[in-house]
Amino acid sequence: MEIKHTDAEAAITEQVVARLADTPDARLKVLMQALVRHLHAYVREVEPTEEEWFAAIRFLTETGKMCDGLVRQEFILLSDTLGVSMLVDAINHRQASGATETTVFGPFYIPGMPERGCGENMAETPGTPALVHGYVRATDGTPVAGAVLDIWQTAENGMYSGQDPGQPAGNLRGRYRTDAEGYYAIRTIVPVSYPVPADGPVGRMLQATGRHPWRPAHLHFMVDAPGHRKLVTHLFNQGDPYLQSDVVFGVKPSLQVAYEARPATDALASRFGIDGPFREARYDFVLASR
Ligand code: BEZ
Ligand code: FE
Repeated sequence: MEIKHTDAEAAITEQVVARLADTPDARLKVLMQALVRHLHAYVREVEPTEEEWFAAIRFLTETGKMCDGLVRQEFILLSDTLGVSMLVDAINHRQASGATETTVFGPFYIPGMPERGCGENMAETPGTPALVHGYVRATDGTPVAGAVLDIWQTAENGMYSGQDPGQPAGNLRGRYRTDAEGYYAIRTIVPVSYPVPADGPVGRMLQATGRHPWRPAHLHFMVDAPGHRKLVTHLFNQGDPYLQSDVVFGVKPSLQVAYEARPATDALASRFGIDGPFREARYDFVLASR
């Protein structure tokens, strides 16, 4: 005998949606009713066994337990690896304003990192020396003086300070400020590609779905200046093998930079006290006005 979806199954959804009808906050009502409709539609589509549904609840429970409130945020990682973070980003930055494109924030930002002078070296661990520099401008081309560029990147072992007890606090992190011309300069090391933490539920999900955990090499930026929209973005290393398959779907063509080889005799080396060959990356940021 063929078993049909019963009217009772459909009625459950309508009952829950109706129960939410008096939610005092209008936005919360939209969020909750849509959540219930889509969640029920998912369940109707995949028809989970009870064991599968408990496995899903166990997965979410473990995801929560993996979060430490500091630098391990497994729910952000889940949102990122399912492409939800980039979808939220795309929806919230639709205007083609000419401003620099945005990408994922990620779970490894730490506020209050050291203020650094123009061209100061933020790397206390080894790597290929690099200078990343350029201008911050408004969409009409005027320089933005006093913009704060909050930067973070991994060491060559693929880990961020704060995540890795072997690194000094503040390593490969810092806040730089643009000068009167809107110019900034960061001394660091060339970023490397690295895997996102794969020792938790998200790692198991990646493995079970045949996915790798790698991100292409990048430098994180949060650029903030009065009167402008805060910009959260990365600069990706041109030519990185993971640009086409970033585990968190964060790559955009406009955010790729080349790290060009420069000799120790380059004028920039003497200007910034670099005592050997280095790589130079140039990038100008454009901030949308608020
Ligand atoms: C990151 O680039 O730091 C990152 C972004 C999303 C998930 C994990 C790490
Ligand atoms: Fe990162």
